[in-house]
Amino acid sequence: MRKIAMADANIKTYHKLIFGDSENMKELPDGSVHLVVTSPPYFNAPFDYPDLFESYEKYLDKMTKVAREIKRVLAKGRIACIVCDDILIDGKKYPIVADLTKIYINEGFIYRDKIIWIKPEGYIRISRRSGVILQHPFPMYFYPDNMQETILIFQNGKFDYKSIPEKAKEQSKIDISEYQTKKWYLNIWNIVNVLPLKNRAENGIAAFPEEIPYRLIKLFSFIGETVLDPFMGSGTTNKVSAMLKRNSVGYEIDLELLEVVKEKMKLKYARILKDYEVEIIIRDDAKYLRTQLQNKVSVKNARKNSKRSL
Ligand SMILES: C[S@@+](CC[C@H](N)C(=O)[O-])C[C@H]1O[C@@H](n2cnc3c(N)ncnc32)[C@H](O)[C@@H]1O
Repeated sequence: MRKIAMADANIKTYHKLIFGDSENMKELPDGSVHLVVTSPPYFNAPFDYPDLFESYEKYLDKMTKVAREIKRVLAKGRIACIVCDDILIDGKKYPIVADLTKIYINEGFIYRDKIIWIKPEGYIRISRRSGVILQHPFPMYFYPDNMQETILIFQNGKFDYKSIPEKAKEQSKIDISEYQTKKWYLNIWNIVNVLPLKNRAENGIAAFPEEIPYRLIKLFSFIGETVLDPFMGSGTTNKVSAMLKRNSVGYEIDLELLEVVKEKMKLKYARILKDYEVEIIIRDDAKYLRTQLQNKVSVKNARKNSKRSL
């Protein structure tokens, strides 16, 4: 998919995929990670995590504990990128973007930036709520379709630019023509989302497209460093880290995703050169979630459809 400079081809990378709750990242020493790229569950998002959390307060409490662990394991001056969005459940919008911003600031991060990820209009995944107004063309029926998510960028204090060896800098140089032509320099990124095709490996996982970790890893880490995703899902961040010659660590609570993650890490390019190693750790606090959540989604959809046909 991407060109990788041949000069980098002989760098071996290591990937630790841990099944367990990321509120505890005991496998990682303090300051051992150079970048975080992640996307937490969006509370009880109806299409992905119905009733996963008992309440919004409990959800925020979990997000706070994970943010605290991220702060501990992230090296000084380094970046945590959180892909997130507000979520509408039963007509009520939960302000996840604002609440996560507050949580990370309270945990001691600098709020560095915000990028809006825009998806193409034709690829809206969730039902088109704007259609209500076609049936009821009157004031008060307006709900817009959502085509965006937010990438929050936090920094763990000041970065020491002099701490990076010249060689690592040279190897990690950003391709300016890619930066310009794909408009990475804007705080709006137009990127196609993962298409909801049937029978895809990531079915039931709100995976982000590879382009998101690809840009963030190139912009905020150096070759040979370690990227962490505390909400690994299908392992997109880990796969792209390997492609870009970074080590990675992933935490995922749902052991049902083990096979998906294994599948995703089979990088053709890397396998030919045998240039990365994967270690899988299964902890006692891993759970089985995916089937149960998908069943709930089906039941909710069936209920919705039967209401519509009444
Ligand atoms: C939005 S998905 C991440 C998708 C991922 N970015 C990808 O591209 O596949 C969030 C993931 O976090 C996992 N998760 C939820 N709570 C967790 C926790 N406490 N510890 C670790 N993983 C958790 C969910 O099971 C889900 O797979």
